[in-house]
Amino acid sequence: MKYKSIIEKMTLEEKASLMSGKNGWETKAIKRLGIPSIFLSDGPTGLRKQAGPSDQLGLNDSLPATCLPTVAAVANSWDPEVGAQAGAIIGSEAKARNVSMVLGPGLNIKRNPLCGRNFEYVSEDPYLAGKMAASYVRGIQSQGVASCIKHFALNNQEYKRMSIDSVVDERTMREIYLTGFEIAVKEGKPDAVMSSYNSVNGHFTNENPHLLLDILRDDWGFGGMVVTDWGGDNDRVSGIECLNSLEMPSTAGETDREIVQAVKDGRLKEERLDECVDLLLDVVFKRAAASKKETPIDFRAHFDKACELAKECLVLLKNDKKVLPLNPATKVAVIGDFAASPRYQGAGSSVVHAALVTNALDWIGRSGLDVVGYEPGFKRYGGKDRRLARKAVKLASKADVLLVFLGLDEFSEVEGIDRRNLKLPRNQLELIEALRKTGKKIAVVLSCGCAVELTGLDEKADALLYASLSGEAGGEAIAEILCGKAVPSGKLAETFPLSYDDVPSRKYYPGREATAEYREGPYVGYRYYASKGIKVRYPFGFGLSYTHFD
Ligand code: GLC
Repeated sequence: MKYKSIIEKMTLEEKASLMSGKNGWETKAIKRLGIPSIFLSDGPTGLRKQAGPSDQLGLNDSLPATCLPTVAAVANSWDPEVGAQAGAIIGSEAKARNVSMVLGPGLNIKRNPLCGRNFEYVSEDPYLAGKMAASYVRGIQSQGVASCIKHFALNNQEYKRMSIDSVVDERTMREIYLTGFEIAVKEGKPDAVMSSYNSVNGHFTNENPHLLLDILRDDWGFGGMVVTDWGGDNDRVSGIECLNSLEMPSTAGETDREIVQAVKDGRLKEERLDECVDLLLDVVFKRAAASKKETPIDFRAHFDKACELAKECLVLLKNDKKVLPLNPATKVAVIGDFAASPRYQGAGSSVVHAALVTNALDWIGRSGLDVVGYEPGFKRYGGKDRRLARKAVKLASKADVLLVFLGLDEFSEVEGIDRRNLKLPRNQLELIEALRKTGKKIAVVLSCGCAVELTGLDEKADALLYASLSGEAGGEAIAEILCGKAVPSGKLAETFPLSYDDVPSRKYYPGREATAEYREGPYVGYRYYASKGIKVRYPFGFGLSYTHFD
């Protein structure tokens, strides 16, 4: 143990007190022993440090921060350097705000496209997931801040996430659901791993010896600390046995007392508690904020960086008639609510109070194109409005090319809720149908953090640019790609199936009773479609560029 000399001076109560948070975001300090408290904050899309009193529900506003493309968008770059730079921006802003641990990246496998947090995860493929997550870890930790990869493990649905039991065979678990974490641990060397809410094969992950000891520590050699998800502890003493060093948020001392009692009753060896304390102290001393004062953040420079990164993440799925890139002075009509009010991140604990936000409409207006006008075209949150569609069609008649911005709204992809289907909103499909009848060329920009069914859209668009959730600077990045100032190079990190009916786990996803049964085994994503020879809309790894190959 590294901190034996300090631990020897601790009372049993002091050791136990360190095993749970002081409040929503901080660990406890022990002043007389020179042990500082450290601040933990989300998240994978940018720093979410709450201003003022911390409440885990995030009701209090958080401090302004740079909102990067989400992890799902960065995954489409297939470039670990992009992940590392995104991580470095998040880490540098955490450092500036005296945050010592960033709760991210998340890298759970996209077992099913309906999972409500897929916008926060990398891929259906564990190799890509691991490589990209490891790059985020390196980026975050390059700034002197701990990275905490999550949610370990098999947290692949949001429905009943705090109680569901993921039932899976050992081979599938290791090959598909753990390989990404293995790569991230071995190549990223994160200071921390967050255990997930769910159980795996009947055992809550935060106290699961097979996951936390046999695999994470013995097989992979992980030497950092484990922290629960917020409210994710089940039996604190069992967690200590599994070297889970920190329960968050605070339990007002309740579980601290349980630990003390267990040691006194001989149900828990004090040496095991000492090991948990040692693992926690290692991160605390390594990453404690140098001083309480915050340092300034250059949000403009970080915005520009976020724009550069976003350009690497955009995926050109279709470009018939070479509609794109648009020649300067092309007469364009900009249509779609997402052009003026961008959809650039997901909802839940990853949400960032973006310091600077831009939208594609502004940038298209400055790009040299002849913009004949803008129309929202549909109601963002669904519902019929023929007037909006009629105005869009009227505007279309003045243009050569229609730039149509579609996607899923903020309530369609949320932590804690899985999607009910892969469909795009009906009012958007009706709009694109009406615009198709104008005979104009149509380039669609799609903003959503997950796979959707493109039936009714794909065949009506001449060009289709998948923006995923491209962060605060996504508008500028999209405009630059549309105008050819940058060449699209993104590739899909998850399959876009033709229909949800083709998804292997569709018959039993999400698990609704006590268990989520991974009956499809390793046949997840392209491993299924390719093995079964099932046609998909756009395959894993697909993406065009403006380069023409003969
Ligand atoms: C949430 C999420 C986790 C997040 C944590 C703190 O419930 O599952 O990703 O880091 O709590 O907000």
